[in-house]
Amino acid sequence: MYQITPACILAAGLLVAPPLLAQTPAEVADREYADVMTRSPNLENGRQVYLTCAVCHLPEGWGTADGTYPQIAGQLRTVIIKQLADFRAGNRINPLMYPFSVPQVLGNAQDIADVAAYVAQLPMTPHNGLGPGTDLERGAALYRDNCADCHGAQGEGDDEEHIPAIAAQHYLHLMRQFDSIRSGARTNADPEMVEQIQGFTPAEQAAVLDYTARLRPPPERLAADGWRNPDFPDFVRERPAQP
Ligand code: HEC
Ligand code: HEC
Repeated sequence: MYQITPACILAAGLLVAPPLLAQTPAEVADREYADVMTRSPNLENGRQVYLTCAVCHLPEGWGTADGTYPQIAGQLRTVIIKQLADFRAGNRINPLMYPFSVPQVLGNAQDIADVAAYVAQLPMTPHNGLGPGTDLERGAALYRDNCADCHGAQGEGDDEEHIPAIAAQHYLHLMRQFDSIRSGARTNADPEMVEQIQGFTPAEQAAVLDYTARLRPPPERLAADGWRNPDFPDFVRERPAQP
């Protein structure tokens, strides 16, 4: 028996070359998004597709509190679809995600519809990674003035406009995304958001994202303490030690 680790899946995935593009990555992603949105999701197939994702995002979809892997459980379905289409088209660059987004691994538009619906219905962790908690009033004011219009007063996002839910996301993942959105490294960023956050000082950034990480989704969207995803009873959680 061998174990499927992130490293060996990554090694396999890197053998798959990026596609030749006749259109811009954003155009290719848009077209795929539109295609996926016409499909009715099949949750059982979504669960099966999710098996490879669970290696990094864990069976619960909670990622890791240190932000290495984002929480994707409970993310809006349209956001998951857009991000997968973007990774696959090269409109969002990440060397870990890319190999899992290609058709040979993730499958076709129907598989994207299925896995997105599966992930969206997973309950969220009650224990996401938080910041220091020292500047939350300032964080709340900054959030209200700079973020709530798009991401919603409770960080719930907007399904129709595929604006991400950001409540209860790991603080360090939010910090990384904020940095890469502001610097332009995240090529699928919203240009209006980029402009909105240009002037943030490091202290303001930390305050607003600490506040964001502490926003709670509605209680029925949160898992109970110690919940394990019963769909993956045989999942091996121990990561083997690095040789
Ligand atoms: C090898 C580890 C790994 C695997 C396997 C993996 N991911 Fe990811 N995923 C990541 C990392 C790391 C990020 C964060 C990328 C970044 O920082 O831009 C991410 C980001 C995402 C995001 C965007 C989240 C956000 O909030 O920005 C989605 C959606 C996602 N993954 C879904 C999936 C799905 C669905 C699968 C299975 C088909 C999968 N991932 C497999 C590592 C992985
Ligand atoms: C003009 C609307 C707008 C404003 C204002 C805005 N955002 Fe965003 N934000 C977006 C959109 C749209 C995306 C997703 C872009 C994409 O498709 O990848 C996003 C993405 C993000 C992400 C990445 C989420 C993820 O997991 O991938 C974070 C974090 C974020 N915003 C935080 C903030 C914070 C904090 C503020 C306020 C300081 C803010 N945003 C203001 C529209 C906005």
